[in-house]
Amino acid sequence: MRELTLQNLINRVDELPEVPQIAFRAIQLLNNPETDVSSLAQVISSDQALTAKVLRLCNSAFYGLSRQVTTISEAVVIVGFSSLKSLVLMLTTQSTMNKGLLGYKIGPGEFWHHSLSAAEVSRFLAQHTKSNNPEEAFIAGLIHDIGKMVLNQYALPEVYRATNLSQKERIPIREAETRVLGFDHADVGAALTERWNFPPVLVEAIRRHHNFEPYAPAGKTEALPLLVSTANLIAQSLEHTQIFNWSELQNHAQMLQDTLGLNIEQLKQLLPALRQRISEANDMLLLLD
Ligand SMILES: [Fe+2]
Ligand SMILES: [Fe+2]
Repeated sequence: MRELTLQNLINRVDELPEVPQIAFRAIQLLNNPETDVSSLAQVISSDQALTAKVLRLCNSAFYGLSRQVTTISEAVVIVGFSSLKSLVLMLTTQSTMNKGLLGYKIGPGEFWHHSLSAAEVSRFLAQHTKSNNPEEAFIAGLIHDIGKMVLNQYALPEVYRATNLSQKERIPIREAETRVLGFDHADVGAALTERWNFPPVLVEAIRRHHNFEPYAPAGKTEALPLLVSTANLIAQSLEHTQIFNWSELQNHAQMLQDTLGLNIEQLKQLLPALRQRISEANDMLLLLD
């Protein structure tokens, strides 16, 4: 039987054929603080389908403009540089993430919806808490489960076994993955983003998105990992039940307070605005269908 280690799995993912090249470029671009308007416009313009989508969105009712936007440079001005960066990231990852993940029994659209929800919640939390990098939070939320895509593609038999084990024994999927593979999808996502030279805080946010351990390299606590774990839980709750299960967050109340300055009562009050934000993001993308 083949032995699948985390390292040889990652070595095989030199290029995720399922993820269009443009998405990688966009992600790298977004991570580069030196990205400027013209390099973003260049990335968008090099992809005709992406250009068409961006222009359609800018000209849609969503932005309610009185005149036609015909070039990407105009779009940058109208939509705003940072919104356009998130928009590009959304548009370039959507088609890939929209597919189902068979091994995980995740149907078409579900994985994308969860990723987008987590991205929106992460950005929202970053805007409303001590953490102050909403864009980074959005990216982290959007790709936090990317390890599942990799495993589903490169380790399908193992993923099937893990999914069955998780259902049979009623254990979380990450625990089942670890029992079958020796590592879980968070480890895979972290190894992958590390290889793509993502900033360490983003890599750690992905690695730790299922646990609430503080991340404090060099003694300074970084808020992003905790923020993404919180966003993941909120996104799951909003998707599956519409009724929020507070107990797990309650267990980490003190840490949320200390690290993010977020208290649970305050979070409860933010919930309706959060739901609204997620449904707006979905509506916007529906305009492109
Ligand atoms: Fe996950
Ligand atoms: Fe997740």
